[in-house]
Amino acid sequence: MERTLILVKPDGVQRGLIGDVISRFERRGLKLIGMKFMQMSSSRAAEHYAEHIGKPFYPGLVAYIISGPIVAMVWEGNDAVAIARNTIGATKPAESAPGTIRGDFALEIGRNMVHGSDSPESGERETAIYFSADELVSWDRITDTWISEDKWE
Ligand code: RTP
Ligand code: MG
Repeated sequence: MERTLILVKPDGVQRGLIGDVISRFERRGLKLIGMKFMQMSSSRAAEHYAEHIGKPFYPGLVAYIISGPIVAMVWEGNDAVAIARNTIGATKPAESAPGTIRGDFALEIGRNMVHGSDSPESGERETAIYFSADELVSWDRITDTWISEDKWE
């Protein structure tokens, strides 16, 4: 099953919007399999954002992501990466559709509230940066048959 790593970034935590973010993914139907409230370290930030090292926005991005606590979560489902990305909205909030998280809660690219993995491979790579295998929970959800045709037996 596909997995995506979602972060509520420090602005989302400070603004009291953790619950709103979780609620969007729950209502969409993705299944939560891991969650931590934590302070990001510089070394974890560098591992997470390795693809952006050397870009002009990188120092500001790391300063932002380590500036306060975050919530790290893993959500699972068919097409979890694409589903989460369109629930989050475009990277630039000015281009994010209303009804998306960034379209409803954010104004600037440098304070865009949430992270979501950009491919299934990134979902696996990023999950391993935050969670060990025994911190992820495999569970049956009573609503699964009403959310996924695969689960209908
Ligand atoms: P994310 O990784 O946070 O889910 O966002 P994304 O895929 O939509 O965007 P990405 O290109 O991976 O950029 C990661 C984060 O870096 C910040 N950023 N700032 N000032 C800028 O030009 C700029 N570009 C990117 C954003 O916080 C973006 O979410
Ligand atoms: Mg990205």
